[in-house]
Amino acid sequence: MLEQKVPWSVPDISKDEEVAVSSVMTSKWLGMGPKTRELEENICNYIRVKNATVVNNGTSALIAALIANDVNSGDKVLVPTYTFIATVNSVLAIGAQPVLIDCDPHTFNISISNLETTFEQNKDAKCLLFVDVAGLPADIDSIREFSRKHSINLIEDAAEAFGARYKEKLLGAYDHTTIFSFHIAKQMTMVEGGAIVTEDEKVAGRLKLIRSHGEGKEKYVHTDFGLNFRPTDLQSAIGIAQLKKVDGYMELRRQIAELYISHLSEHLEFQQVPSYVSRHPWMLFMCLAKDRADRDKLNKFLNERGVDTRIPWPPVNMQPYHRSRLGDISCPNAENVYERVLSLPIGNAISKAEAERVIDVIKDFYASKR
Ligand SMILES: Cc1ncc(COP(=O)(O)O)c(C=O)c1O
Repeated sequence: MLEQKVPWSVPDISKDEEVAVSSVMTSKWLGMGPKTRELEENICNYIRVKNATVVNNGTSALIAALIANDVNSGDKVLVPTYTFIATVNSVLAIGAQPVLIDCDPHTFNISISNLETTFEQNKDAKCLLFVDVAGLPADIDSIREFSRKHSINLIEDAAEAFGARYKEKLLGAYDHTTIFSFHIAKQMTMVEGGAIVTEDEKVAGRLKLIRSHGEGKEKYVHTDFGLNFRPTDLQSAIGIAQLKKVDGYMELRRQIAELYISHLSEHLEFQQVPSYVSRHPWMLFMCLAKDRADRDKLNKFLNERGVDTRIPWPPVNMQPYHRSRLGDISCPNAENVYERVLSLPIGNAISKAEAERVIDVIKDFYASKR
């Protein structure tokens, strides 16, 4: 019997973060200030992008990105149905109209053919907001080509994908707007936090104002629309400490993913990693069971033996609130993924022994079925 628990994801918070926070505590400047600017500079250097704006979470980053790209109330925005709800909720928050795109059954990202079909019926769409699911880069060149061909705005929700590489290039080093989340289970964390990066100077300039109610150079004079999306320097100090370690965290995640794949392929399918992906940061480790019954039984078996799991996510077209607003929409690929998917433990502080325990429990489950 297995007594030890294996958590789904725990952050690696150590002396570095404690020292970083204490130094802000004693500096007398706790709100947004020098530490936030330093984190922005460090993110620019890491990604090799000209502009970064750090905000209080990834959802704020999405809303700010939509505003900065002139997406307005009533505009249609193409979004994946298979994503964490923040993607589509940010579109709703600004009064825009989400148009759902079904996912690819193997990568879980949008497929270009689904995108083209959905666009055919929504040629007035103003923007495509695409997601790198679980951190796996979408096919960015094809998506950029689509955006050029149809003169449609592009925003990348890379909330789960900080540190990911597409054809060797780090996500974010483009002239379209890319957002990241630094929530607690991510490759690097500010506890709550996010960032928006872009090579586009005009969008970048607006983002700095949008973060603070659109306030321009003069105090209390608002030259743009915005809200309060500011992080505190306490959060940014944690981000600075974490960014120094993010490559190590991703290497650990890679090793854990490799371990799962090498031991479990007889029983499960995994998120497919196309050859254009040079680094998958494995924010989530997602696998597919044979069918819903198999997934549910395996999930229960794991949970009863102390292995914590998640089932990400009911597609947006199946969410009760979103169905009531968007109507009945069928997205068979996403619905099928949701029926079979299971997210196994991974994270910045997982041990190989913990991953091996997960593997053993899964092997026990399938052995008991024989
Ligand atoms: C795809 C996606 N978009 C947006 C967000 C929102 O980020 P946050 O939780 O920092 O607001 C998340 C959060 O995990 C996410 O997974």
